[in-house]
Amino acid sequence: MSEWWKGAVVYQVYPRSFYDQRGDGIGDLPGITDKLDYIANLGVDAIWMCPFFRSPMKDFGYDVCDFTDVDPQFGSIADFDVLVERAHERGLKVIIDQVNSHCSDQMPWFVESRSSRDNAKADWFIWKDAKPDGSPPNNWQSIFGGPSWTWDTRRRQYYLHNFLASQPDLNIRNTEVQDALIDVARFWLNRGVDGLRLDAVNFYTCDPEFSDNPPNEDQSAVKPYYMQLHEKDINHPDTLAFLRRLRAELDEKPGRFAVAEVFEENPTGRSVDYTNAPDLIHTAYNFSYLYLDGKVTAEELRVPIRIWEEGGKGAWPSWAFSNHDTPRVITRWRGATANESHATLFLGLLIALRGTIFLYQGEELGLPQSDVAFEFLQDPEAITNWPETLGRDGCRTPMPWRANAPFAGFSTSDPWLPVPAAHAERAIDLQEAATGSVLSHARKMLALRKDRLALREGALELLDVDEPFLAFIRRHDSGDILVVLNISDQSAHLPISGTTVVKPLFLTQGVEIGSEQITCPPNAVAWLELG
Ligand code: BGC
Repeated sequence: MSEWWKGAVVYQVYPRSFYDQRGDGIGDLPGITDKLDYIANLGVDAIWMCPFFRSPMKDFGYDVCDFTDVDPQFGSIADFDVLVERAHERGLKVIIDQVNSHCSDQMPWFVESRSSRDNAKADWFIWKDAKPDGSPPNNWQSIFGGPSWTWDTRRRQYYLHNFLASQPDLNIRNTEVQDALIDVARFWLNRGVDGLRLDAVNFYTCDPEFSDNPPNEDQSAVKPYYMQLHEKDINHPDTLAFLRRLRAELDEKPGRFAVAEVFEENPTGRSVDYTNAPDLIHTAYNFSYLYLDGKVTAEELRVPIRIWEEGGKGAWPSWAFSNHDTPRVITRWRGATANESHATLFLGLLIALRGTIFLYQGEELGLPQSDVAFEFLQDPEAITNWPETLGRDGCRTPMPWRANAPFAGFSTSDPWLPVPAAHAERAIDLQEAATGSVLSHARKMLALRKDRLALREGALELLDVDEPFLAFIRRHDSGDILVVLNISDQSAHLPISGTTVVKPLFLTQGVEIGSEQITCPPNAVAWLELG
């Protein structure tokens, strides 16, 4: 396999919460540059940074008002150039977010578009007349709450927004819009960016007839968005034409790639739709694990792998367990009882999967979800729907660098979100000093993935084993690796007669390899080289 991103591990940085070098309580680009050695020493291949572009920050950077400038809160274009240069010096690739589906209502494109029905950008957004009774054109709902249509008095029309009303949807079918977005991609690729994470790709185009979505039979959702089936508002195949143009642009520069964010009910099927051809997007970020909730069993963790291995149709998978939109994995899957052994267990799965792996900042420390009190909430979705949805602040709190420093060493002044005490207890300085910490386990597993072609590129064969085990073999001509995970808080034995273990590569404490069975303490991880 020649492409660097196949099998790579990408470390996701949420710039606002990574490291605040300038001391104003908000993480920044110079802060990321300062901490590149930490990231490189993890043994990952790339960083993906969430948006740092100029923005009113209504959706914390996913509402961009200038696609080709850095927001002063995060630094400057010069800071960005330094970051890319320093990352490359350390062998780290740099991936940035591209928010093509929508922008801020402060973006000059939208200001012009809303000014009249006949300006040069009149058709750059999705405008529709009201129904005769003045109501919105159809029943579509926005994800954060309320209808996805907002009335604009000057144009006397509604505009579409799948997210906040201050995030109008761009009309991606319009080739001038496509040209403008491709210019943006080119701007960043020319600055040395190695990859693009395409935000909300399934929201790029909608039904041109604007028909109603049908109701969802399950009406238990707390938000109207989930009370309908999204058959009409998202995923129109016209998106593919634009993706092909983007792909052609990426192909102009060897070694560049894009990962599409596709979040919806059927993540695997849709991921394949957007990636299953050499002229489409290289890979899609699979949401199967991000949606998985509750005390997961081995079988539940096996399902996304099985579905992909059977239905991936040759497309390349990308996996994540945590990100800036989803409660942190150990809390989501193990609740208040989550501990370090769960963190290592889930890393032992993620880092062994076939595909490109996305590791979210703090996952390597085993950070649990933060409990952010209402008065500290920042996320508009959380504030609107509190207390029914937890929102996204709890996975966005600042990184704990030093246990005993103010604000756990993230900043010298009050951070934009509080650092929980439980995170300071898992700070990087403590974990670097301790053998057997989650961080030390993460580094060992990442080093093995880098070193062993079976883990990076090998085929994946699921083994038919009973609960509480999840086991698979990563196969490669250079040698096979057996991955065994005890997905439970009880000790268990996995029979292995007939399997020749040449040497253990990674074992958590207390695992014993016998000739007939492997003895696994609760939450054990064993990666074994096979003969
Ligand atoms: C991003 C979110 C953002 C949304 C709208 C996403 O999927 O990950 O953080 O709110 O797109 O841009």
